[in-house]
Amino acid sequence: MPASTSATFPPGFIWGAATSSYQIEGAWNEDGKGESIWDRFSHTPGKVANGDTGDIACDHYHRWRKDVAWMKELGLNAYRFSVSWARLLPRGRGQVNPAGVDFYSRLVDALLEAGIEPFVTLYHWDLPQALQDGGGWPARVTAEAFVEYADLLSGTLGDRVTHWITFNEPYVSAIVGYLEGRHAPGHTDLDEALAAAHHLLLAHGWSIPVIRRNCVRAEVGITLNLSPHTPASPSTADRAAAWQRDGILNRWFLDPIAARGYPADIVQHYGQHYGQHYGHAMDFVEADDLDAIAVPIDFLGVNYYCRSVVRSSAVPEDENARRTVFLNPNPTEMGWEVYPAGLHDLLGRLHFDYRFPALYITENGAAYRDRIGDSGQVEDLLRIKYLKEHLMAAAQAIAAGVPLRGYFAWSLMDNFEWAHGYSKRFGLIHVDYPSQRRIPKASAYWYRQVIAANTVVDYSTS
Ligand code: FCB
Repeated sequence: MPASTSATFPPGFIWGAATSSYQIEGAWNEDGKGESIWDRFSHTPGKVANGDTGDIACDHYHRWRKDVAWMKELGLNAYRFSVSWARLLPRGRGQVNPAGVDFYSRLVDALLEAGIEPFVTLYHWDLPQALQDGGGWPARVTAEAFVEYADLLSGTLGDRVTHWITFNEPYVSAIVGYLEGRHAPGHTDLDEALAAAHHLLLAHGWSIPVIRRNCVRAEVGITLNLSPHTPASPSTADRAAAWQRDGILNRWFLDPIAARGYPADIVQHYGQHYGQHYGHAMDFVEADDLDAIAVPIDFLGVNYYCRSVVRSSAVPEDENARRTVFLNPNPTEMGWEVYPAGLHDLLGRLHFDYRFPALYITENGAAYRDRIGDSGQVEDLLRIKYLKEHLMAAAQAIAAGVPLRGYFAWSLMDNFEWAHGYSKRFGLIHVDYPSQRRIPKASAYWYRQVIAANTVVDYSTS
């Protein structure tokens, strides 16, 4: 990419920040909310670093008015948040909790009044525990329950909310939750994980016509976590391994949504690897499912953090060609490489290969070990650098013709980072958990300037 000193974004470009219900709300059992799988998981000893839970988190359930005021202060055009299904429907289906409906309804009103467009994610990983007890995502009935929930939510907020995201990162729900066991519900079963992935996609497809019926102006999409996969060397084995990883993470979700069905190489891979037992893998796919999943979307939401460099384990190191790809030094606190060019490559591929009508970056950001300085400020210069470089990469993609409509920084404020608990801070706003005090970091002030000017200036290259 040519060096550039500044980039101005198209008029009307959406500047936002994102959060999710379990990560910020707290109030896990207040006002009639039901238990979710993340409540159950974080209350199980040994599952989350430090024994942290989302019981209180950022206490956003009680402090949302002030949090909206902070968003306004930053000049955000949009705010992406998720709804806690169990706050609305404590047992997942059936009895509605009016206090839950009220909470989200008032939040939406306050956002609109502040001139901030709500982008609502229906599902960001916190399945009602009652539905997990009934089989969870590996069970088809959960997809049916999701449609009822989507109907209720879009029926309630559809007069005011026009941007809807059905799911956040179905890969993580399915694979990290049901195969790797690092997330709720903590299972380790490939059969379950593949069925879960399918039912998440099916629930996505089934719910879209329902949301559109309740909200005529709806723009509906889904958010995927996507990463480019770079072979560690030009060897055939490394290239094959990288393509396979691409299939598992990216194409398994992109292809069915784009009406291409499941990628044949990965269907075969799962079949081979799990032999006899999985000889009948994919028998959870019923007639018409793939058509339902392929229902047109208005936009694809992209969560991008880093690329992945892949080396085949089938070939001993010294048989591979000499390594030609090196990771950038200085990863983030998550151990993730900082690789802005990957965002540019990914957006280009998504547009020129898949042709979704529009793209949004629904998450991008970095965890760093922030410190409150003597002046009381958080000088998170590394985060500013990270955001700036990724925005420059996004601008290059727009210049190349990619219909990128907006960008959401992850995250509005520090929050509960899943299995890492509160040990990783991603926020533009620092949260002092014991006092719940919010302190905007330098990156928040920087982002405010970017938004106001609709322009990113990269002094480092000038
Ligand atoms: C994404 C999640 C989000 C947050 C970031 C760091 O995978 O969607 O909730 O945890 O990672």
